[in-house]
Amino acid sequence: MMHSVRRLPIEGFLHGADYNPDQWQKYPGVIADDFRLLKLANMNAVTLGVFSWAQLEPEEGRFEFRWMDDIFLRAEKQDVKVILATPSGGKPNWLALGYPEVRRVTAEGHREPQMGRHNHCLTSPVYREKVGTINSQLAARYGRHPALVLWHISNEFGGHCHCPHCWEAFREWLKVRYQTLDALNDAWWSRFWSHTYADWGQIQSLDPSVHGLELDWKRFMTHQCCSFIRNEVQALRPHSPLIPTTTNLMPFFDSYNLWEMAKEVDVISWDSYPTWHATSPEFDETENALNTAINHDVFRSMKGGAPFLLLETTPGQVSWEPVSPARRPGVHRLNGLLAVSHGADAVCYFQFRKSRGSFEKFHGAVIGHEGSENTRTFREVAALGQTLKSLSGIAGGRMVARAALLLDWENRWAIEQAQSPQNASKNYLTTQRDHYRPLWKRGVPMDVIAEESDLGGYDLLIAPMLYMVRGDLGERLNTFVRNGGTLVGTYHSGLVDESDLCFSGPVPGPLREVFGLRVEETDALPDGLERRVEVLEGSDCGLKGSYQGRHYFDILRLEGARVLAIFAEDFYAGNPAVTVNHFGKGRAYYVASRNDTRFLDDLLGFLARDLHLTPPLAAALPDGVILRQRLKGQETYSFLMNFHAGPAVVELPGGPWTDAETGELLPGNLMNLDPFGSRILKAGGL
Ligand code: GLA
Ligand code: ZN
Repeated sequence: MMHSVRRLPIEGFLHGADYNPDQWQKYPGVIADDFRLLKLANMNAVTLGVFSWAQLEPEEGRFEFRWMDDIFLRAEKQDVKVILATPSGGKPNWLALGYPEVRRVTAEGHREPQMGRHNHCLTSPVYREKVGTINSQLAARYGRHPALVLWHISNEFGGHCHCPHCWEAFREWLKVRYQTLDALNDAWWSRFWSHTYADWGQIQSLDPSVHGLELDWKRFMTHQCCSFIRNEVQALRPHSPLIPTTTNLMPFFDSYNLWEMAKEVDVISWDSYPTWHATSPEFDETENALNTAINHDVFRSMKGGAPFLLLETTPGQVSWEPVSPARRPGVHRLNGLLAVSHGADAVCYFQFRKSRGSFEKFHGAVIGHEGSENTRTFREVAALGQTLKSLSGIAGGRMVARAALLLDWENRWAIEQAQSPQNASKNYLTTQRDHYRPLWKRGVPMDVIAEESDLGGYDLLIAPMLYMVRGDLGERLNTFVRNGGTLVGTYHSGLVDESDLCFSGPVPGPLREVFGLRVEETDALPDGLERRVEVLEGSDCGLKGSYQGRHYFDILRLEGARVLAIFAEDFYAGNPAVTVNHFGKGRAYYVASRNDTRFLDDLLGFLARDLHLTPPLAAALPDGVILRQRLKGQETYSFLMNFHAGPAVVELPGGPWTDAETGELLPGNLMNLDPFGSRILKAGGL
């Protein structure tokens, strides 16, 4: 993987927020007060200009920078760092109405009116040109400003456009990929339902019945987004050669492959909005934390473990969930430390000051409508800022993961679009989380990687539902296990190639050798129906007694693998349900059914112990207390976070232990954590 050379020119953590002074120009005193409050909130960064195009270029070709000059000046004076956004996420009226082609066309073929945001065409030459112009103006003016530390390219890229420009570009992209229509028709299996393409011009963007097309369309839209980003960056570079770039990624959007976008920027950042308290009965936030943590790990893994930035999270309640309970005391700090503990070097918010009107007027902000520092939100933000200052030595610290989870975007697309005997409960992302949970709970550092990622450094690779096997992945998995790696795979694996064409020959296709088996048949059962899995005596893999399987049941024929558990019910009673194949110096486990959470906890818990992946500090953690460790120089920083609404007591091994934040030596080996409490420890005394 290529790693970029441009790094953030900062020491310590960034603690910042999206800041929209352009909305407050008519309110004397507000901007000066903002800077007073920034300081009081222990904040050192602002993200400027995300949606400021109409304020920067009120008419085509007429630029207005005075208000922004003023902010840069104040920021420099106060040593506040500026993250400067390019404004392409929202388009001004003169552009949207004067050049209709910049507005997105829906899948139904309607050109959208000027409304909302994030709905521009990624292909439109006019849009690219106008974005290039405003970007180069911004770069010429601020590209070498001492306060500038990062370019924020656009905002939360997502969605597709089906306009004629996009279709034409899609066809050109397909020509490069396939060279001939014949090759395209083969890859798309288009003879099915008489969809054979006789002319490139017959290709349109939408046909859910042609899976190869659907997949390629998403790949193309990803490609188009990447080239849009490149177009933006190109306009900045002549004036701003050294400042790194980022774009705030959104894990919920599945319209593009984020791994491809990651290659276009220097620093990875993402926007995290956990639904604290909204989904968990009794306010046990462990699952919310897990959903967030797995994303932190995805984003950290995208640049080989380099620190990433939490570029947006709310300092209070969001306004777009059905219900957003107020964050309980401690949760704001937990939310920030969760990111830092997984490798973030920034905690930034949407937003600094709450707008008075329009769509987000009730969205959380550091400063509310009452306009002062006298709120709990403000105090919690300021306290976290103080914490980040005292922990600044951790910034830049890494995590070293010997375990990885394979969560692949294209695989996810392919699984989701397929029609198969199990359509009701495919649950790809839930399955990924289920496989992540046992190791995360045990404090095991984990990367979350894609099919193309290097497997070299790992001892354990968990690859659930590896339905699509692209390129040489089968070979690389063979090598991984042959060299001593431990692989865990499941049902619904090894079915299709990169064109979403089913492998000819037995399932699991290129994975057959490594798992030492073939799948003869797969039973699919509706949610609620279970089949018992019975562990064999002496199977020595952490499994004991019986477990329940759901949804998918592979009927296996073994070709070298050893049986660890069998199905105990239905016509496949007695058939293998869990197997291990000793292959070279390593082993590959195959799990034939979707088993209960206790099963995954037992099996993956065993592997964590067996491969010595569990840090000693995690050995005796109470439920709901999560450990993450970041390494910096010779120092290991241990974050202990209590996601329970009740207090917790942690028994620390060895000692002495020092609180990294306060420098105090911990008395004895029992440490109390408040409800939603969190502490960061260093081994040893001062
Ligand atoms: C996204 C956007 C922000 C804002 C927040 C609200 O993350 O990037 O502009 O709309 O959502 O939660
Ligand atoms: Zn378009």
